[in-house]
Amino acid sequence: MTTVAVVGATGAVGREMLRTLERRNFPAKRVIALASERSAGSKLDFNGKTLTVEKLGPESFAGVDIALFSAGASTSKEFAPIAAAAGAVVIDNSSAWRMDPDVPLVVPEVNPGALTALKKGIIANPNCSTIQMVVALKPLHDVARIKHIVVSTYQATSGKGHAAVQELKNQIAELGQGKAPTINVFPAQIALNVVSDWKPGTDGYSEEELKMVHETKKIMGDSSIGVTPTCVRVPVVSGHSESVHVTFHEPLSAARARDLLRNAPGVKLVEGEYRPGGEPQPIQAADTDPVYVGRVRDDLAVPGALNLWIVSDNLRKGAALNAVQIAELLIR
Ligand code: A2P
Repeated sequence: MTTVAVVGATGAVGREMLRTLERRNFPAKRVIALASERSAGSKLDFNGKTLTVEKLGPESFAGVDIALFSAGASTSKEFAPIAAAAGAVVIDNSSAWRMDPDVPLVVPEVNPGALTALKKGIIANPNCSTIQMVVALKPLHDVARIKHIVVSTYQATSGKGHAAVQELKNQIAELGQGKAPTINVFPAQIALNVVSDWKPGTDGYSEEELKMVHETKKIMGDSSIGVTPTCVRVPVVSGHSESVHVTFHEPLSAARARDLLRNAPGVKLVEGEYRPGGEPQPIQAADTDPVYVGRVRDDLAVPGALNLWIVSDNLRKGAALNAVQIAELLIR
């Protein structure tokens, strides 16, 4: 039996981590909820009991076997090595450690073997948009080897945390009352709008977009894969959507791709006759585990290339579920 600490337990992902541990009957003898001073002493429900949130500090990890971190990159940079030095294996949901060559970046359906190289006692959970994309594309890569991915994301507000979801809901209410929307968390109005939510770098690509470029290569173990990303935020609470165009070294037909995806781990293929509203939607993916793949089409202009529509709950497979699946592999 394992002692698990959840760092950032009061946040959008941290709460989902607790729910995921509970839902999957993770064999924890003790769960410790950690957050900042702001919420120390507050209560969280877990497995029919009440957890009292403790302030994160250097002493928080005594006796902890697995520490699930989701409290932002600066907290992870500071405290993941402290937790590892205290004997815990850290599974970090932030971007702090993902590209460190001594830190495995793991999606259990794609590269579980990377877990054997645990040099720092830290494992990184990839970016939410990257996770759902590689779960869907790995079975195709194994057969036809991906050359180039062009991906446009439609990312939900919960990926930016609890305060972002609240801002979307407040703006919807304000607009309904004929008021001007209050803008604090997003760079522009998010309700009834689509927003480029990340500052572009000098090359015009945002950090969020570059995460998809570099993380995809690392997880797939193939630095030759080209990724051309465009990331935007849409007024959805949970569930990221992606329009993906893929070219391969070996031509792949949509029919063959559907065959490969039908029983692929973590994937739910949506196919068959058209039904209005039948294609994957974030509102239906929310609070569920699978990566939904629909609209698998042969490209009209590029022979042997495919177009897909990929939707998954960013708080579940994109964050908490992936982290807990890694923890499950560790205790196997
Ligand atoms: P707190 O509730 O005390 O602010 P979200 O991504 O939904 O905004 O949540 C962020 C999570 O990270 C929250 O649980 C938050 O705790 C926690 N957090 C943020 N900064 C720190 C910090 N410096 N130390 C510990 N936890 C932090």
